[in-house]
Amino acid sequence: MAADEAYTDQGEDPEVAGTVRALCADFDNRPDALIEILHGVQAAFGFVPEAAVGALAKSLNLSRADVHGVISFYHDFAREKPGRHVLKLCRAESCQANGSNALAAHAESALGVPFGATTGDGEFTLKAVYCLGNCALGPSVLVGETLHARVDAAKFDDLVAGLRGAKG
Ligand code: FES
Repeated sequence: MAADEAYTDQGEDPEVAGTVRALCADFDNRPDALIEILHGVQAAFGFVPEAAVGALAKSLNLSRADVHGVISFYHDFAREKPGRHVLKLCRAESCQANGSNALAAHAESALGVPFGATTGDGEFTLKAVYCLGNCALGPSVLVGETLHARVDAAKFDDLVAGLRGAKG
């Protein structure tokens, strides 16, 4: 038995496997639809769980390496469960000209995590993004669907405090 086969039947998560099978069926189990299906998996779980890899490989008749390769090539796909709030801080040029480097350093220090990581309490994930289309009003920070403009350290702290207090 190949290592690939050995993995796929071990520790299958029924919820993940069921969701993956349904998403793959929507695309007639076409391997060329892998990216669209991965977006569906991420929409369902907030990230691409490891358990999805084996289920995708099985349904689409791909190797786990094929699936892993696509997930790691596209940075849009998260491999770990994100925090309750994802703070996307723009680090592109125009925002840098308006002070986003100082804001980035403050954000890492205030949250106690580097970019790409989630706070220990699972509340916040800090992510770098490159342009949110709000260049004239940077530094820009996107939280969920809400874009925050001209964010400085004080505004960032207020934002985080407000989110910590928010329910749901
Ligand atoms: S450079 Fe930051 S929003 Fe465009």
